[in-house]
Amino acid sequence: MRPQRQQYLEALGIDVWVSRAAPPAAAPVAAVPVAAEVGPSTPSPAWLALREEVLRCTKCPLHATRTQGVFGVGPQRADWLVVGEAPGAEEDRRGEPFVGAAGQLLDAMLKAIGLDRRSNVYIANVLKSRPPGNRDPSPEEVRACLPYLHRQVELLQPKIMLAVGRIAAQSLLATDAPLGRLRSQVHRFGSIPLVVTYHPAYLLRSPGEKRKAWEDLKFARSLYQQLAQDGGGDGQRA
Ligand code: URA
Repeated sequence: MRPQRQQYLEALGIDVWVSRAAPPAAAPVAAVPVAAEVGPSTPSPAWLALREEVLRCTKCPLHATRTQGVFGVGPQRADWLVVGEAPGAEEDRRGEPFVGAAGQLLDAMLKAIGLDRRSNVYIANVLKSRPPGNRDPSPEEVRACLPYLHRQVELLQPKIMLAVGRIAAQSLLATDAPLGRLRSQVHRFGSIPLVVTYHPAYLLRSPGEKRKAWEDLKFARSLYQQLAQDGGGDGQRA
């Protein structure tokens, strides 16, 4: 196993077993096309207008209890879009998705497949406002907020989407199927391929499931590589 891969798996908290009989040799590094860095880009006027609208939104009662709306983070030209459930306490305070303990694990998971919120992945949530007490979003809240995510997808035009957790997966796919049944297959959000995996907060509570999440991430990465080969999705947008 490559030392770097080993480091990432250890960062995810996945035990790495190495055979004593065959110590790891300096294996050749496979040419893995991960999403290229797209670098800072100036957000389009439509993107800035949408952001303003989200931050001023009063369409559901959550606006009264939130500190601020949480629009999303990452470069607007990223090939990857990761979608979570809703901001928690720390996200509500800082105005950025996935910045608490679950966010740290999400960052490690994304790093393991070559993604970083500063350079090549956009991260958003189904809900832009925090449900008090970190309760699940209600169907009405999802209905009120989901059009914003649709609009974000239209403007971002990601090549691939990763839904993390049951609420994100069920909301995006309009299904009540359990998460276990939604994994390991390619869904579509409109025309965009979408893969489902566990929520990092769940993985913090159930570390034994991290192996399965790692399988999901590899599945998503190989799908992206396939798409890149077929259609030139290399993160370098015009
Ligand atoms: N959980 C989520 O689903 N989203 C966040 O932004 C933080 C925690």
